[in-house]
Amino acid sequence: MSEPKKLYIKTYGCQMNVYDSERMSEALGGQGYVETQSPEDADMILLNTCHIREKAAEKVYSELGRFKGLKAEKPDLKIGVAGCVAQAEGEEIMRRQPLVDLVVGPQSYHRLPELEAKARAGEKALDTDFPEEDKFEKLKNRPKAKRGPTAFLTVQEGCDKFCAFCVVPYTRGAEVSRPADRILREAQDLVERGVREITLLGQNVNAYHGAGPDGDMTLAGLIWELNKIDGLERIRFTTSHPNDMTDDLIEAHGTCEKLMPYLHLPVQSGSDKILKRMNRSHTAESYLRLIERIREARPDILMSGDFIVGFPEETEEDFQATLDLVEQVRYGYAYSFKYSTRPGTPAAERPQVDPQEADDRLQRLQALITRHQREIQDAMVDRTVRVLFEKPGRLAGQMVGKSEYLHAVHVSGADLSAGDLRNVRITASGANSLAGEVL
Ligand code: 5AD
Ligand code: SF4
Repeated sequence: MSEPKKLYIKTYGCQMNVYDSERMSEALGGQGYVETQSPEDADMILLNTCHIREKAAEKVYSELGRFKGLKAEKPDLKIGVAGCVAQAEGEEIMRRQPLVDLVVGPQSYHRLPELEAKARAGEKALDTDFPEEDKFEKLKNRPKAKRGPTAFLTVQEGCDKFCAFCVVPYTRGAEVSRPADRILREAQDLVERGVREITLLGQNVNAYHGAGPDGDMTLAGLIWELNKIDGLERIRFTTSHPNDMTDDLIEAHGTCEKLMPYLHLPVQSGSDKILKRMNRSHTAESYLRLIERIREARPDILMSGDFIVGFPEETEEDFQATLDLVEQVRYGYAYSFKYSTRPGTPAAERPQVDPQEADDRLQRLQALITRHQREIQDAMVDRTVRVLFEKPGRLAGQMVGKSEYLHAVHVSGADLSAGDLRNVRITASGANSLAGEVL
């Protein structure tokens, strides 16, 4: 029998890329590859790239440059670029970095085995099409191996919203939902392999409208179907757009017992002027009203969000409106970014905010968010939460898991295994996690 070939995948960016990398690894498993953690051992190196922020393409080129020595030592080594930079740059990658053998965009991963064979035969292999077929259906099934208690499952890809700063509609293409029966089959299979929590993924996950038995199904409909799967204990979804928070989804947060009280709902800015220029088609007020309704349905829900500061033409007054909104919402988690130009997007041509001013705003926003985050986490002390344990912690005898609210919780000295779900009384709140004892 021949030695298996080794695959090294490095994943950048969002959870959808994490899911895609798993599926690509499985697909290449069918071509005789096993994964390795070190590029030095690899017969194929695959960078699964992200294009969302800051000089993404430049970073990929410099990462690729570092493989020159490896490739010189091992001429059979194949190097591939996948993900959104692959989609955005296409052939240009091979022109600028001739050591690249394979370029594959996110919508063409099911063609990876053919592309790999082509690269093995010494040809350059490129596919950045937006094909009609469902790539996940065409990709080799996940093998039946046991796996950890949590998993991602992509249900929807692409975006039709065209926020003025964002590359996603160009790199991931138009919005497409996978049919419900395929998702449910995949979920059932994950549960049979030990998964107890599934996070449904999509760039616009709450716009989900996949084919169901009686016409299109909404995300809430899909969640209710998943809720019926025995052995599946928790359901999460990300990332949502405020305009697609339908009544049935808000209601599900109050009534669906497996749906976790955590919602990532990016608003990006608190200024109506900036929101308009961002093409967000909601206002600060409509967003706040929406959160009120969500909290009516599920009072303890933990909110999370994304912010961009220093968007073109953002004034100090606009920025103050963002701080006001954050003050009103009080996020349990939030991610804030300094605006960075993405070539080809509408905002790229507009007058930029002074970079120092933008840095200063970012720091002020992050300080406020961190304060809320901390206060919300500290308020968990003495409360009882339900923890799904995932893996051993750094200390001997310690296990780490997540609460319903996605806080990391450490427990020491209890007889616990990955996959256990236990009530835990929180005893302390640390820098980035909680500690507690099993009840
Ligand atoms: N500059 C800065 N942040 C951006 N994001 C998306 N595009 C840009 C950009 N050009 C942020 C948004 C989005 C998150 C995933 O990344 O806040 O919600
Ligand atoms: Fe990008 Fe806006 Fe679509 Fe989100 S909703 S992926 S920020 S265009």
